[in-house]
Amino acid sequence: MSDARAEAANQMWGGRFSSGVDAIMEAINASIGFDRRLARQDVEGSRAHAAMLAATGIISDSDAEAMREGLLTILSEIEGGAFEFSTALEDIHMNVEARLKTLIGEPAGRLHTGRSRNDQVATDFKLWVRDQYDAAIAGVEALQRALLAQAEAGADWVMPGFTHLQVAQPVTWGHHMLAYVEMLGRDAGRLRDARARMNESPLGAAALAGTSFPIDRHMTAAALGFDRPAANSLDAVSDRDFALEFLSAASICAMHLSRLAEELVIWSSAQFRFVTLSDAFSTGSSIMPQKKNPDAAELIRAKIGRIFGANVSLMVVMKGLPLAYSKDMQEDKEQVFDAADSLMLALAAMTGMVADMSANRPALEAAAASGFSTATDLADWLVRALGLPFREAHHVTGALVAMAEAAGCDLPDLTLEQMQSVHAKIDSSVFEVLGVANSVASRTSYGGTAPVRVREQVAAWKKRLG
Ligand code: ARG
Repeated sequence: MSDARAEAANQMWGGRFSSGVDAIMEAINASIGFDRRLARQDVEGSRAHAAMLAATGIISDSDAEAMREGLLTILSEIEGGAFEFSTALEDIHMNVEARLKTLIGEPAGRLHTGRSRNDQVATDFKLWVRDQYDAAIAGVEALQRALLAQAEAGADWVMPGFTHLQVAQPVTWGHHMLAYVEMLGRDAGRLRDARARMNESPLGAAALAGTSFPIDRHMTAAALGFDRPAANSLDAVSDRDFALEFLSAASICAMHLSRLAEELVIWSSAQFRFVTLSDAFSTGSSIMPQKKNPDAAELIRAKIGRIFGANVSLMVVMKGLPLAYSKDMQEDKEQVFDAADSLMLALAAMTGMVADMSANRPALEAAAASGFSTATDLADWLVRALGLPFREAHHVTGALVAMAEAAGCDLPDLTLEQMQSVHAKIDSSVFEVLGVANSVASRTSYGGTAPVRVREQVAAWKKRLG
């Protein structure tokens, strides 16, 4: 390469090129704008690789030492904001390597022995995503703890349980909170399962076929906290399941957060007044002085779309890619970065909201008693006390509900005479089952809403969460 055009060829891979790339090519090709987030993982991976190259006698100890020292300097430059990233150097891997050359000279050129950017990026990204699994599990558990505190405080507070968002049967506040604890428990389980599956090292798979150098992949795997090296080099460089499983577990978790967010939006409205959100997690209106808006809940409900979008997006990037690496796979990162950021923020905001919110017990109780919520208890009583077949009991109860509705009152407000006009054998002991507290206390079946069951579940979850 003697002319000026050849001088412009890429310093890392430009050997066979006679000119530099077009500006548009550089713009579509470069990933340094986003993959700089992998700097720490890139340095860790390279430090492990350098130590292994020396341990196996592929490079000298002094070269490895210089590389490992230089890489630490680079990391502190990056973290301190002093590093100058170059778009011409495309990505984090080549930016770091080029800087290493400036710092330590010729030995830097030996770092890439027995590896490729394909296994390097897979390793870096895996290390980054692995941290997100851990952070997401911790975030989910923090939210579970906040929900458990609510459940414990209100194990016997009565509220309406809904189906079709119509009052169905009374339930307890604690029981409702525990429903989310269960969902989140499955989320943490999914994240844990996937994390265990993904913890294999791609490093040393090289471009796609492995390498002829006597590398020790078990050594680098152990140094980076992986359980073992990935067994097939083609798969190792082209696998992004670890990111997809994260996105899909994150999507399901996000869906749960969105459902809870929706409930908080409804519950904090003037029509429901089931909960009061703290000032710290609400905002005002610039024109309507009376307003206190549940913005955090609304934003959680909305942010979830980004996570679903990332999941679909990466599935689409990966579908139809022939083995092994294709540059398409560079498009894996931004979506995962954004989804992980969104999930962590949504979890933290939900945890803050739940920890701070106060349930309005009188409003919950009043609502629990409305809407003929104990009609099922009445039907069950007719079966138990009078021996009616359930279908007939259902019919009799329906007639009593219609009577109360016409009279503009609730079931317990009907007189015994009114009830007996529908079924002569009804006696005054019926009133015991019409109260909401009795109703919830009676639902003692395993997993039921009775305070005694709720307290058992709270204790079991506290033990599980440690
Ligand atoms: N920046 C690339 C990525 O994110 C690194 C791997 C490039 N490999 C290659 N053969 N061009 O996927």
